[in-house]
Amino acid sequence: MVRASHEIRTAYLKFFEARGHAVRPSAPLVPRDDPSLLFTVAGMVQFKPLYSTPPDQLPFKRATTVQKCLRANDLESVGRTLRHHTFFEMLGNFSFGDYFKREAIEYAWEFVKSELGLDTERVWISVYEQDDEARAMWREIAGVPAARIVGLGKKDNFWGPAGETGACGPSSELYFDTGAANGCGKSDCAVGCDCDRYIEFWNLVFPQFDQQKDGTLVPLAHPGIDTGMGLERTAFIAQGARDNFHSDLFWPVIARLQELSGLEYERDAATRLAMNAVADHVRALVFTLSEGIYPSNEGRGYVLRRILRRASGKLRGLGIHDPFLYRLVDTIVEVMGPHYAELAPTAPRVASLIEAEEQRFLATLETGMARFEDALGAARGRGDAVPGKDVFTLYDTYGFPPELTAEMARDRGKLEFIVTAREKKEWVAAD
Ligand code: SER
Repeated sequence: MVRASHEIRTAYLKFFEARGHAVRPSAPLVPRDDPSLLFTVAGMVQFKPLYSTPPDQLPFKRATTVQKCLRANDLESVGRTLRHHTFFEMLGNFSFGDYFKREAIEYAWEFVKSELGLDTERVWISVYEQDDEARAMWREIAGVPAARIVGLGKKDNFWGPAGETGACGPSSELYFDTGAANGCGKSDCAVGCDCDRYIEFWNLVFPQFDQQKDGTLVPLAHPGIDTGMGLERTAFIAQGARDNFHSDLFWPVIARLQELSGLEYERDAATRLAMNAVADHVRALVFTLSEGIYPSNEGRGYVLRRILRRASGKLRGLGIHDPFLYRLVDTIVEVMGPHYAELAPTAPRVASLIEAEEQRFLATLETGMARFEDALGAARGRGDAVPGKDVFTLYDTYGFPPELTAEMARDRGKLEFIVTAREKKEWVAAD
């Protein structure tokens, strides 16, 4: 059985190579020919055109990859949950008009059983609610009892396209029951619940449509397969770890953070959250900077800036007031370098870029925090809402991304923001 994350990567590629898949390298984090995407968000991104390529012109009909991905849409959840990361690795197997649902399910089940050796009684399945075929296949091929197969709607079980156009379709997901202790405890907690009990670790998408710019779904001439298994979640499950952050992908980074700071991870929940977030964020920065993306005020660079500033805010909360993130770069390279040869040569440059960017933010962080405290104090008499003009000043003068202010305000129990339409317009103009 495979346990270590490097074993999971190798086992996955070998398993699918033995089943006729071309092993392809990860594409860069910045998609080459897709202006509608800031970052590569899934394994299928580099293969998008192949889903509608005529069979005789395909370079290969099956492929498998370990893909570097970045998603920053749920930034403030990172560190709080078992599910959210910015940078993550997606293991995928793809079929371009070759095999379809049956084989995708057969392969997935065999991998889960014979390579990962998971306790299959704890594996749950979701299918698109109208997809009776997938439901029947899971029962027939894998013997999953009907009680552990759940039908969900479009929000959960219809995937894509990545960006504005391209392959998309219904999906079927594999979940692992991590136990009641991780759950919300609500009586209706089940697969699809927002809590951390049932962790979706593998998404099998059955692309059947090619979404056009105007949103219409044109059936693909040859349906395909696009699967994505999250390495971080799978490592956590396979290793029986407490959570993703205790897997071998993150724990060395957190251990180093403890060592360098002299702080205990177990001190309290806020410390754990902060250390989780920092470990995630520094990894994302190392990968993006190693590809030549730099922090800035727009587009991709602004995503990096938000990630770095959130990490700086968390470090400040731990009582660390000097540049610190850059000191974790070497540990990221130790953990990830064996699989990503591009990291070691760029590490010194990446570390100094991170340090410089930390310096830049730290120059305004303290005065910005004082301004934030004033805004919170003033908000007390106003239904606990932080007015948009304060949020804007914090952004414009002190470099606090609005969602950083929002998260800090929420952490302090101020739940609301009042941002008027006029203020929004001003923000955009000031950008
Ligand atoms: N594209 C799908 C996802 O991102 C499966 O790879 O979940």
